[in-house]
Amino acid sequence: MALVTTTEMFKKAYDGGYAVGAFNVNNMEIVQGITEAAGELKSPLILQVSAGARKYANHSYLTKLVEAALMEYDIPIALHLDHGADFEICKACIDGGFTSVMIDGSHHSFEDNIALTKKVVEYAHDKGVVVEGELGKLAGIEDDVKVADADAAYTQPDEVEEFVSRTGVDSLAIAIGTSHGAFKFKPGQTPQLRFDILAEIEKRIPGFPIVLHGASSVSQEYVKIIQENGGNLADAIGIPEDMLRQAAKSAVCKINIDSDLRLAMTAGVRQVLNQNPAAFDPREYLKVGRQNVKDLVAHKILNVLGSNGRA
Ligand code: G3H
Ligand code: 13P
Ligand code: ZN
Repeated sequence: MALVTTTEMFKKAYDGGYAVGAFNVNNMEIVQGITEAAGELKSPLILQVSAGARKYANHSYLTKLVEAALMEYDIPIALHLDHGADFEICKACIDGGFTSVMIDGSHHSFEDNIALTKKVVEYAHDKGVVVEGELGKLAGIEDDVKVADADAAYTQPDEVEEFVSRTGVDSLAIAIGTSHGAFKFKPGQTPQLRFDILAEIEKRIPGFPIVLHGASSVSQEYVKIIQENGGNLADAIGIPEDMLRQAAKSAVCKINIDSDLRLAMTAGVRQVLNQNPAAFDPREYLKVGRQNVKDLVAHKILNVLGSNGRA
């Protein structure tokens, strides 16, 4: 199957009350672990690439890895740019074979965000590529976009209709309390998402696909393995999975997961190297990391996203 855009995926997800997982890819083992799980569970899939991933692994290597995944599994896969910071990176990905890009203008003023997003939409749509925009600021660190905790601002429902109609975007990332990374809440703090804001947004733009960034749940199982094998991740806290399940049933059609993959991969690698200090064949530890990635993605598809059997 060839790469697809997210248009059909999101329509089916919206109507079916589930979400499609958007997983960040940085190397071969991560691509393999994710697509093996999605392929076996017949789930649609979004593989996303950040500016950091393009810097680390190179655009061509990543697109060819995704092409290889398409040859192995008969499921719809979209290749998406995560957190495009400017027009130039979006253009490079649109010209370079991606089927979807995010232009993250959330750190600009409302008017500047609209102007930048609209410019990307016009270029992308002309080439059959879809665009995700963002309104509202997430706490934590985004790729090339740093947002201090204090600046974090929820999406204003009053602004979404105008943003969507003036830009022509195909999906909208919103801020309702999720954040990037493995430390989303402080110890003792009760994790909370603003489902009231999500409901307001749904009312203003019915039928329009919403995206949730910063949606890793930070499995305590992997945190424990990392801790027990020489790592230091005390106080890592994610979004509770019941909240993500609730979001997946709503207008949220795309759920972004990166930190959970990092934890799964790192737990596997640390475990092998700690238990067998003589190990030096990268395949020996990377295959355990890859298996963890596969298990994690299968768990998300079955227990959080509900996208199994929807390919
Ligand atoms: O939202 C950011 C993603 O987790 C990408 O992270 O820029 O370190 O690749 P990265
Ligand atoms: P996490 O850090 O919660 O995995 O979020 C990833 C993300 O939003 C990528 O855009
Ligand atoms: Zn993000």
